[in-house]
Amino acid sequence: MRVLGIETSCDETAVAVVDDGVEIRSNALSSQHEIHGRFGGVVPELASRAHVERLTPLLEEALGIAGTTWPELDAVAVTRGPGLVGALLVGLATAKAVALALDVPIVGVNHLEGHIYANFLEHGPPNPPYVCLLVSGGHTMLVHMPEEHRYRILGQTLDDAAGEAFDKIARFLGLGYPGGPILDRLARKGNPEAVRFPRAMAQSGDYDFSLSGLKTAVIRHIGKEREAGRDISVEDLAASFQEAVVDVQVQKTMAAAEETGVDTVLLGGGVVANSRLRQRAAEAAQGRGIHLLHPSPELCTDNGAMIASAGHFRLARGERSSFDIVAEPGLTLS
Ligand code: KG4
Ligand code: ZN
Repeated sequence: MRVLGIETSCDETAVAVVDDGVEIRSNALSSQHEIHGRFGGVVPELASRAHVERLTPLLEEALGIAGTTWPELDAVAVTRGPGLVGALLVGLATAKAVALALDVPIVGVNHLEGHIYANFLEHGPPNPPYVCLLVSGGHTMLVHMPEEHRYRILGQTLDDAAGEAFDKIARFLGLGYPGGPILDRLARKGNPEAVRFPRAMAQSGDYDFSLSGLKTAVIRHIGKEREAGRDISVEDLAASFQEAVVDVQVQKTMAAAEETGVDTVLLGGGVVANSRLRQRAAEAAQGRGIHLLHPSPELCTDNGAMIASAGHFRLARGERSSFDIVAEPGLTLS
């Protein structure tokens, strides 16, 4: 089955063509970072407008790269939430138009499920049960999947998402947007033990996270150092902040795997592109005999292929959406 995947939930306009849920024929992307960069975060109205301008040419581009034609598409998968309502609407309206014109089924996809299925593109479908750590610009959660398409949320952030914390620290330091890749790069040259930032909720005995206190601690530290007239090593700061985030995430993920008795752990979402998180998670998994899967960095951040893949596996079990599917900005997993 050849599925067209459309993703417009936030600030990436993305279109992909994927065969049988795992074979990427094309994965075209138009990132809006240059538009939102000067605001230090995504401006919803600007995002919607950019999706409108970019989506149609990107559809042509994705088909061209895939070496396929419209009549060869068997179905359309589109993100229906969570995300920015105006941005989601652009993708949904376009997906409906394509599906109607081609007379093929349409399936609405949960963006978070897309991040999980990015792993399928890389490694093929793993065998459930598994635990998945989902960390992106809008979400930070631990999910237990006892079987395919069944989600039990074990815990989530009580305040900021991990990606949001990276973005806010980078903005505070005037480093640019999105902050994750910038801090990741700087941290490689820094000492993760230079400053001991708090590991919030590390001992809370549950699977929830809290990141806003860490953000405040970093900002306070910068203020104190500046006041004392000391130079701040932005590399050390990035490495120390990143270490505090990664520490708690890896520890809770491994605890969740242990408690649920799974031997496979999946990582998904933009923050999984983080080199330190990948490294630390791999080390922890190896020590415990856990099979750890994560997508390659390009497939961690928002893309159309993950939506096509998640859509494929829903279509394959007979699921279809009606043409009245609507955008669901607050859509959850379970
Ligand atoms: O999944 P994603 O592309 O979009 C959402 O669904 O939110 O995630 C974007 C987030 C941004 O906050 C970005 O700063 C973060 O992922 N991110 C990273 C890295 N690359 C992207 N965070 C840490 N390290 C990275 N290398
Ligand atoms: Zn995402």
